[in-house]
Amino acid sequence: MKGRTDVIVGVQWGDEGKGRVVDALAGKSGVIARYQGGANAGHTVVVEDEKFVFHLLPSGILYPDKICLIGNGVVIDPETLFAELDDLKDRGKILARLVVSNAAHIVMPYHKQIDKLSEGARSEGRKIGTTGRGIGPCYSDKFDRIGIRAEDLVNPEILKEKLIINIEQKNKILTRVYDAEPLDLEDIYKTALEWGKRMKPLLGDTFLEIHNALASGKNVLFEGAQGTLLDIDHGTYPFVTSSSPCSGGACTGAGIGAGKIDRVIGVTKAYCTRVGEGPFPTEDHGLIGETLRTRGGEFGATTGRPRRCGWNDLVAVDYAVKINGIDGLALTKLDVLSGFEKIQVCTSYDIEGTIHKEFPSSCAELAKAVPLFEELPGWKEDIGKCRSFEELPAQAQDYIRFIEERVSAPVVLIGVGQGREDTILRGI
Ligand code: GDP
Ligand code: IMO
Ligand code: MG
Repeated sequence: MKGRTDVIVGVQWGDEGKGRVVDALAGKSGVIARYQGGANAGHTVVVEDEKFVFHLLPSGILYPDKICLIGNGVVIDPETLFAELDDLKDRGKILARLVVSNAAHIVMPYHKQIDKLSEGARSEGRKIGTTGRGIGPCYSDKFDRIGIRAEDLVNPEILKEKLIINIEQKNKILTRVYDAEPLDLEDIYKTALEWGKRMKPLLGDTFLEIHNALASGKNVLFEGAQGTLLDIDHGTYPFVTSSSPCSGGACTGAGIGAGKIDRVIGVTKAYCTRVGEGPFPTEDHGLIGETLRTRGGEFGATTGRPRRCGWNDLVAVDYAVKINGIDGLALTKLDVLSGFEKIQVCTSYDIEGTIHKEFPSSCAELAKAVPLFEELPGWKEDIGKCRSFEELPAQAQDYIRFIEERVSAPVVLIGVGQGREDTILRGI
């Protein structure tokens, strides 16, 4: 007996609706694991009109009979984690069993401070528009091999040793580079020890949980944060996050062999959004963008920033299908397109007079891309109550078939509203 493994990845620049897709599929899984990113994520789940936004907790946390894991590849801000747990407790929810990897890195107060200071110091045009959650500085320390891991919070001596090194270094950066006040070692040490006390019962070997679950026939769902185009390697560098949201990130960020991944599901909106800076070929600065933003409620789940909006970009979706090995697409927010007379879909770029069908690896080239659209007829009907593909208006079905054909991947899940039940499953 062996369970199945599915990786849920964002196809675009994040906020595709990964949380709601994980929530929809979690019922058939035993374990739900986050594998990268941190509290920069904001994953929305709506159950019976009650809305939840998860930054660190896996989106399966509302299922009491499941195990939720925060894998080694995640960077954890303990204050956000505890606040999320407290909020759910206050709301009377019974939660999944949560295990946090000993090897996950901790976002320290100085990471958040340096994130904001370094973003503030960038000149116009060079700003990334980070979430300010300390993600880049925390991953920098991880790769510099000086980071604080979750296990260190419960080992006072190692913690002190590591903090001495870190705070000496950070104080030089803060005072000499940014002209800011130095940090107090004892303050931070005390705070970190308090975090450790609360974290201790949650810590464990998350990769073992995964392998034991699979051996006992339970399915495992790996929940990506951010999206393919924000990937540190495959995204629109430098306008990316500092981790590996792509499906390969699940292998390193949770501890599963590449050959043991059965299925990769890419989540894409029926249109496209981006929050933060960087190139976005189909961005619409006019009425279409404004309409998508208003109808789709396109405001960041983490920072509240208005999201940049535009038509769907199948050059980018096709790229994500290839980079992640996507077996099936989850197409969310199809209901938001109801009422548009015509729907435009970008199927190639014009870059300085040359037609490109493939997503360029150079961000500078992408910035010059002019989207070339194909036009499809829209539909007027409200599709919120549709529960099968056949119930959708013919034009909506045609739009889905068009995507499937152009990117060579089947659409296996369709979102027609925010709620758990507003989902059409197609052979998944
Ligand atoms: P994530 O970060 O990928 O989990 O996505 P977010 O939660 O940041 O943003 C997605 C937003 O779209 C949330 O407000 C969801 O409730 C909402 N949403 C997801 N799927 C659908 C859908 O099919 N229809 C509508 N109308 N809203 C959706
Ligand atoms: P979910 O998981 C959308 C963006 C930020 C910024 C860039 C780098 O909810 O889809 P960071 O704080 O990571 O250093 O910021 O990445 N970004 C996201 N955009 N959804 C997210 O997460 C994001 N997480 C980071 O806006 O442009
Ligand atoms: Mg989000």
